[in-house]
Amino acid sequence: MECSWKAVLLLVCASLGVQYTAIRTLRDSLAGPSNWKTLCDDSWMSMEPTQKHILLFATTRSGSSFTGQLLNQHPEIFYMFEPLYHVQQAFTNSSGRIRRSLDRRALLGAYRDLLLNLYKCDLHFMESYIRPEPQDHVTNSFFRRSSSHALCSPPVCLEGGNGAALAPPEESWCTKKCGILNLTLASKSCLTRGHVAIKTVRIPEVKDLRTLVEDPRLDLKIIHLVRDPRAILASRMTAFSDQFRAWKIWNATGRQPRYVDLSQITSTCKDMVASAEAGLQRPAWLQGRYLLVRYEDLAFNPKHMANKLYQFIGLEMEDRVQTWITRNTNSNLSAPFEWNYKYSTTRDSRMTAESWRLHLGYDIVRTVQNLCNDTLALLGYRRVHSTIQLRNLSYSLVEPIT
Ligand SMILES: *[C@@H]1O[C@H](CO)[C@@H](O)[C@H](O)[C@H]1NC(C)=O
Ligand SMILES: *[C@@H]1O[C@H](CO)[C@@H](O)[C@H](O)[C@H]1NC(C)=O
Ligand SMILES: *[C@@H]1O[C@H](CO)[C@@H](O)[C@H](O)[C@H]1NC(C)=O
Ligand SMILES: *[C@@H]1O[C@H](CO)[C@@H](O)[C@H](O)[C@H]1NC(C)=O
Ligand SMILES: *[C@@H]1O[C@H](CO)[C@@H](O)[C@H](O)[C@H]1NC(C)=O
Ligand SMILES: *[C@@H]1O[C@H](CO)[C@@H](O)[C@H](O)[C@H]1NC(C)=O
Repeated sequence: MECSWKAVLLLVCASLGVQYTAIRTLRDSLAGPSNWKTLCDDSWMSMEPTQKHILLFATTRSGSSFTGQLLNQHPEIFYMFEPLYHVQQAFTNSSGRIRRSLDRRALLGAYRDLLLNLYKCDLHFMESYIRPEPQDHVTNSFFRRSSSHALCSPPVCLEGGNGAALAPPEESWCTKKCGILNLTLASKSCLTRGHVAIKTVRIPEVKDLRTLVEDPRLDLKIIHLVRDPRAILASRMTAFSDQFRAWKIWNATGRQPRYVDLSQITSTCKDMVASAEAGLQRPAWLQGRYLLVRYEDLAFNPKHMANKLYQFIGLEMEDRVQTWITRNTNSNLSAPFEWNYKYSTTRDSRMTAESWRLHLGYDIVRTVQNLCNDTLALLGYRRVHSTIQLRNLSYSLVEPIT
């Protein structure tokens, strides 16, 4: 009892944006004898984090599934794919919109709260958000469980075996093979790994993560993945065709419909540039904790870039990572491949990272170039000035890294 109170008190004292629910969950989890040791040994009491934490910070359709897989393959990394999805769902009404009563600040607070608890390997914290509500700490509704090797292999799933690492990217295999997910087991498995990595496309800017970076209970490093906004747009048009109907009409006719919504790509660009600027200015709080990665560099030269990524997080690159790269990026072809996870069942349907240049009308490209001019300039993406230049793949739009 004494120990549990100390731990709770410590948390309160440290109180860096911890919310009441966090403490309540912690107290609940202290009820289980198995967690006493973890929570009450010296390392916890001195708050020195024993694990390292990685955030793959990206935007929708910027190659983050692919990049996440580079982390997911490593046996020392406990990787989670978009756990914040559940928070967003919890605050979304039936028409898929964030509830008006909830402002951006509150949603970000809930996101950070979940991230902190997941980094501390408390997967029970997800239960506040998963629908339907898990009973007895097990669930069938963990978003994209198959994308997390750790959740589909022993000890969480005895059937998973090591094959899980190289299994085809097909969503249902893990639930079929492993059955229901036991969140207690998952939390325990998380504690045995040296690194906890989370991918998210739901946090707008790097500065929104400052409290987590400065939290003494975490040792957080941020991999900021960016991609050419013209490519992001083309990819979103393909993946979310309903939402992008007006854009598709524009693309097909070459004429901009009056009702086309330019705000989404504009804010994507604004967020990208704000975060990259914040990171590149090297503020003290991000010292050694921020890495900017262009998806194009990764797609063109996956082994080299994966090495850089692993250097940054302080781990050796494992064979399993190498093998995955060989199997999933066709390093034999001169053109890089886009790893189209969600919307393809076979590897053959992957598109090249540059294929957008052949499938996007010049009129749209020109508009995005104007909306995102600063972003292109800062991140080293060249503008094109004609359809011929756009379609000429020998003319690279990616400036060398400086
Ligand atoms: C959902 O929320 C949006 C924005 O707050 C609102 O316009 C819409 O009417 C809501 N829809 C339903 C079905 O509640
Ligand atoms: C989940 O795993 C824990 C720890 O191994 C175990 O005690 C518990 O009984 C499991 N829950 C269910 C519903 O199987
Ligand atoms: C690449 O080429 C080598 C030699 O031609 C071949 O052995 C290997 O299987 C190829 N890899 C892929 C992924 O096609
Ligand atoms: C744009 O239109 C062309 C045909 O004009 C089509 O081939 C291409 O797939 C379209 N691109 C997108 C992203 O919808
Ligand atoms: C876009 O940015 C570049 C480099 O900063 C600048 O030279 C150019 O004039 C800008 N163009 C437009 C249309 O804003
Ligand atoms: C395509 O780009 C390359 C490299 O900039 C250039 O040498 C070539 O002339 C271009 N081809 C056409 C048809 O414009």
